[in-house]
Amino acid sequence: MEKYLFVEKYCLSETDFRNIKELEKTCKDYDNAALKLELEYRKNANTGMSDDYNDFICYCDDDIVGYVGISKFGGRLAEVNGVVHPNHRKKGIFTYLFSMIRRELEKRQDSNFLALCDNLSPFKNVIETKYNGHLDHIEYEMFYSLNIKDKEKQKVQNIELVKANNQDAMEIRKQNSIFEGKAIVETDSIIPEEEEKKGMTVFLIKKKHLTVGKIHLTFEGKAGGIFGFFIYPEYRGQGLGKESLYLAKNYFLNLGADKIFLQVDSVNDVAHQLYKSFGFVTESAMAYYLVDTNPKTNI
Ligand SMILES: CC(C)(COP(=O)(O)OP(=O)(O)OC[C@H]1O[C@@H](n2cnc3c(N)ncnc32)[C@H](O)[C@@H]1OP(=O)(O)O)[C@@H](O)C(=O)NCCC(=O)NCCS
Repeated sequence: MEKYLFVEKYCLSETDFRNIKELEKTCKDYDNAALKLELEYRKNANTGMSDDYNDFICYCDDDIVGYVGISKFGGRLAEVNGVVHPNHRKKGIFTYLFSMIRRELEKRQDSNFLALCDNLSPFKNVIETKYNGHLDHIEYEMFYSLNIKDKEKQKVQNIELVKANNQDAMEIRKQNSIFEGKAIVETDSIIPEEEEKKGMTVFLIKKKHLTVGKIHLTFEGKAGGIFGFFIYPEYRGQGLGKESLYLAKNYFLNLGADKIFLQVDSVNDVAHQLYKSFGFVTESAMAYYLVDTNPKTNI
């Protein structure tokens, strides 16, 4: 009978990071399903300076056999995603890790959170039935394979990407609030220079001296990532979105990336179409379930 040890951590050590990466790969290969553990971003973002636990690990001897992490982006709902090694399933590991997550989010007074799972994963049923999760939205995971010849094809005349600094925090908040259709929330703040330390560089999209939008770019292990992409409504449909993607592609080519990834909401037809016509390919779909932190009647 195996003995399991459950540990909550403020941040991941290098060894944890490597072992969880290994576990992630094992589970991806076994389940043939996508995972969104955000390990690179989380490693840089969680420095252990706050008293929030973010990483919940199950050890069997010295091996990591289960992991669940909490990701928090700005003032948004916490996102939770995890894995259990195929040889250690059906032993209550995920249930216990999930109870630790709920305790932590209750401490933070978060009344609900988003649980993520591949749309094709059998775990969907568990989230729906056991945790009473309600499907909030589905995001497509899309990839673009970079080719050195890509560089020659670019023709960008109208815009440039200018790295944002801390003085641009309000501008970024304004764009996010328009995109989300919500009032500007003071606490929902992305501080560009802090984001850069976590590996996410925020660029304003400028047409002459006018700010027409923004795009957030990450680069890790030869993969470029695109997030927070936005063009102000009055500048849409003029090709600026496509030009921004060309500039992002150029940025990643110069860094030596071999692919670009992004996620797009399944109901966001305009963006999805733009990415497809640009050459991005949909590889998987991730379901986001809204779950109550305090289960009250369920479980
Ligand atoms: C997605 C977005 C960045 C595109 O910016 P844009 O400047 O309008 O893009 P472009 O002008 O380069 O147009 C790109 C394609 O979208 C199409 N398009 C643009 N607006 C459209 C609309 N309202 N309806 C249908 N198609 C539209 C264009 O026709 C073009 O297709 P084509 O190349 O086949 O002609 C912009 O719509 C936006 O900011 N949306 C809100 C934020 C968002 O959804 N971001 C993506 C998150 S993943």
